[in-house]
Amino acid sequence: MINKYKPISSKLPHFIHGGDYNPDQWLDHPEILEEDIRLMKLSKCNVMTVGIFSWVSLEPEEGKFNFEWLDGVINKLYENDIHVLLATPTGARPAWMSFKYPEVLRVSSNRMRNSHGGRHNHCYTSPIYREKTRIINTKLAERYSNHPGVIGWHISNEYGGDCHCPLCEEAFRNWLKEKYKTLDNLNKAWWTTFWSHTYTDWSQIESPVPYGEEGVHGLNLDWKRFVTHQTIDFYKWEIEPLRKANADLPITTNFMEMFYGLDYWKFAKEVDVVSWDNYPTWHNEADDVTLASRMSMVHDVMRSLKGGKPFMLMESTPGATNWQATSKLKKPGMHLLSSMQAVAHGSDTVQYFQWRKSRGSSEKFHGAVVDHCGHENTRVFRDVTDVGTTLTKLDEILGTSVNPDVAIIFDWENWWAIDDAQGPRNCGIKYKETIEQHYKAFWKKGIPVDVINMDCDFSKYKLVVAPMLYMVRPGVGERLENFVKNGGTLVSTYWSGIADETDLCFLGGFPGPLRKVLGIWSEEIDSLTDDQRNTINFNNSNELKGEFEAIELCDLIHTETAESLAVYGDDFYKGRPAVTVNNFGSGKAYYIAARTKEDFNDTFYTYLNNTLSLKHAITTELPYGVTAQLRTNGENDYIFLMNFNNATTKIELDDCSYYDILSKEKVDKTITLAPYGLAILKK
Ligand code: GLA
Ligand code: ZN
Repeated sequence: MINKYKPISSKLPHFIHGGDYNPDQWLDHPEILEEDIRLMKLSKCNVMTVGIFSWVSLEPEEGKFNFEWLDGVINKLYENDIHVLLATPTGARPAWMSFKYPEVLRVSSNRMRNSHGGRHNHCYTSPIYREKTRIINTKLAERYSNHPGVIGWHISNEYGGDCHCPLCEEAFRNWLKEKYKTLDNLNKAWWTTFWSHTYTDWSQIESPVPYGEEGVHGLNLDWKRFVTHQTIDFYKWEIEPLRKANADLPITTNFMEMFYGLDYWKFAKEVDVVSWDNYPTWHNEADDVTLASRMSMVHDVMRSLKGGKPFMLMESTPGATNWQATSKLKKPGMHLLSSMQAVAHGSDTVQYFQWRKSRGSSEKFHGAVVDHCGHENTRVFRDVTDVGTTLTKLDEILGTSVNPDVAIIFDWENWWAIDDAQGPRNCGIKYKETIEQHYKAFWKKGIPVDVINMDCDFSKYKLVVAPMLYMVRPGVGERLENFVKNGGTLVSTYWSGIADETDLCFLGGFPGPLRKVLGIWSEEIDSLTDDQRNTINFNNSNELKGEFEAIELCDLIHTETAESLAVYGDDFYKGRPAVTVNNFGSGKAYYIAARTKEDFNDTFYTYLNNTLSLKHAITTELPYGVTAQLRTNGENDYIFLMNFNNATTKIELDDCSYYDILSKEKVDKTITLAPYGLAILKK
């Protein structure tokens, strides 16, 4: 059966290609709109995101509105078959507002109110900011929601940051009251008797700041949860009038990679489609391979956030950014490759920041489709056109997804708790990096992966990898037990099963709720300096063989029901188990006790891949720097072969027959990819 998601908009059953369009910067150059439309058509752009920072152009004075320019832009674009993703303008506010109502400005963690300026510099709690937002959003919704050219909403821009103003602190206390009911519950959950930090009145609770309270880990964690909650609350406030005016228009807000400050698992529930802004620092390292794998993982997070639903690549730069330490040009091929990498992992769009380069202010040198020269005879414009042309050939892939056998758990709350814990390795606990390293082993083999959090359903996977699952929220241990009991394979590592959801340590032996399924007891953990090493020696009784380096963290464990597969080779814990497996129900649970390097991960996951016959994009040995990713509708498989080497690379295909969607030709057994080249094959 063919299984596909619906297009983002029924008005446009094609890949979306376009970008942030800021015509309000060019209102005194009326000829530019005509010229932009000519260039948009030339580069095969079909959607522009309009109005992201337009508040002052829409409401130049309090209560005085001007929509004429926007009417003109939306109508003109629509007459030319270019649709609009309409933004709410709340990412930045007019000066009149900040000066008349200072409470709209954010208070930093120094507890000082910021001055007017910049962007994303507002309080999410302020009733005045909310009221002003409500007014402008309602007007936009009433005027444009039923315009045939408008396909959806882009809410604000890159929500992020926290505000420590009295209004936010009060909202935080109310949120805590709702959560804990009594102060006694809160004090216990936060272990506040330590250093005599017990609260005796709700009013004593302040937001955590560097020169005040920062040592109560439960407080820090709840503050981060509150910031996510309050940001989403503001977002919900923004979208209410939009839903009222036309409930059919899809709504999104642009995420920023794995942005530390917001738990995107919570946010994703509230958007209709996930979108994100992708700015990899290509060409800064010896090669682009590790970065390619890292960005690939972010795409997988974005797809997984809504259970496999295609997402939007809302922003990427068509040229170089202006904010990276070295804003490098993309080498030939990289723009198409980087754009198709998003598509390969489930994006149904390729969009840019921005369409036309600003003439002044802070982003005047940021890459754009149309440069200051103003015409189409540029390398960047040709690259963009190339992406546009490619996307027009991919209609049959639109709405397909991935359905991997493997899931890796990457959990925001766990990330926050690990970083804050003051534990065995404060010079680098490296949660995200560790997840990325495990992920890379699959990426190299072209094995599709979902990146989930610990609340997701595990039952659809064959293999769940949970490195450093320090925090285990209630019920997760049991759910992992059930997963393994029913035949699943679990991999976990050192520094798992340590603390609960308010960062209280599990009593009675680590890894707490994971102890039964893993069949081990972790007694102590040793920390290694950057240049110390131990070794992991397999006992060679099965396919897992050899000696590998153990670095940075070595967990000293006892097997309970598990059996030892490898032991440490050095130090006073020489001979103690370093890798174990526990047969549990019909499944197996592996434990990797020490931090390992790429060679170990490759060997270990090759072994699991052989044992579990994991789904691949293609069952061939992929050369260094090449990956294959899969999109499928259940009947047809589409394989994206991508070469992240700056060198021509040959790939031997397996025995299936493949058709090249871009060249429309049958493919030979050997396929040659240009430097940063790619091929999109249909099986
Ligand atoms: C972010 C913002 C854009 C722009 C780009 C520049 O993603 O959303 O407005 O500033 O960065 O890279
Ligand atoms: Zn505030």
